Amino acid sequence: MDAPYAATPDVHVLPSHLPLPGIGVVPINAYVLHAEEPVVVDTGVGLDGETFIDALSSVLDPATIRWVWLTHDDADHTGAIERLFELAPDARLVCHGLAALRMSSWWGVPMDRVHAIRVGDRLAVGDRTLLAVAPPLYDNPMSTGFIDEATGVLFSVDSFGAIIPEPTTDAAEVPAEALAGGMASWAALDSPWTELVDRDRFGRVLDRVRQLQPTSILSSHLPAARGTSLESFLGVLASVPDVEHAPAPSAEEFQQMLAAMAPAPG
Ligand SMILES: [Fe+2]
Ligand SMILES: [Fe+2]
Repeated sequence: MDAPYAATPDVHVLPSHLPLPGIGVVPINAYVLHAEEPVVVDTGVGLDGETFIDALSSVLDPATIRWVWLTHDDADHTGAIERLFELAPDARLVCHGLAALRMSSWWGVPMDRVHAIRVGDRLAVGDRTLLAVAPPLYDNPMSTGFIDEATGVLFSVDSFGAIIPEPTTDAAEVPAEALAGGMASWAALDSPWTELVDRDRFGRVLDRVRQLQPTSILSSHLPAARGTSLESFLGVLASVPDVEHAPAPSAEEFQQMLAAMAPAPG
């Protein structure tokens, strides 16, 4: 778990990251949206445990959480979800309805607290509304992001993630070439189906993101991207169907990765 930071005036990032030896790191973010009815977006990785709760508690009293928007039920997003629902008695779970059903295979999901959401729905959270949107790329069919209609901040799920050289709190600090390469690599890895897409139809999917005119892009797997990075990011995604999709590591390559991750002796 890394130190929380402010992404925009009313959003905190709760960041963690996964090291990829010899390659870089994948950021893993949850978010706190300080709306009149506070919203937590995703719940970190399980291994962070109480550290995640401590980080969350440093920016918001968990008892005041009203909504937990779960972008999808992958393990890098559901880490503290059970604990959070104990600590936040008034919180409701906002997610794809079938994600709630699937999670009930490993967690006694409080179904009476689930608010099923689908693309195009709006959720009122007191001082603003959140419009549910489909992320252009995804690794899980339940993926549902949103745009805060008061501020234009887009929560883009796994889309626009990137493998970057080292953790940072601002996507603009990553050298442009490294960011573009790391974003294309992540996209091909996380959404391998992109090599199958019809380019024109995929272009229309990217156009729908363009029409949202987001003011900032908050991906689950990228440092906060504030301001005008949208066109360069869309350009990277448009290139993804044509990038070479890397094969899985061989048994030998995986052993080499593990060796690189081992702490140095002494
Ligand atoms: Fe995912
Ligand atoms: Fe993810």
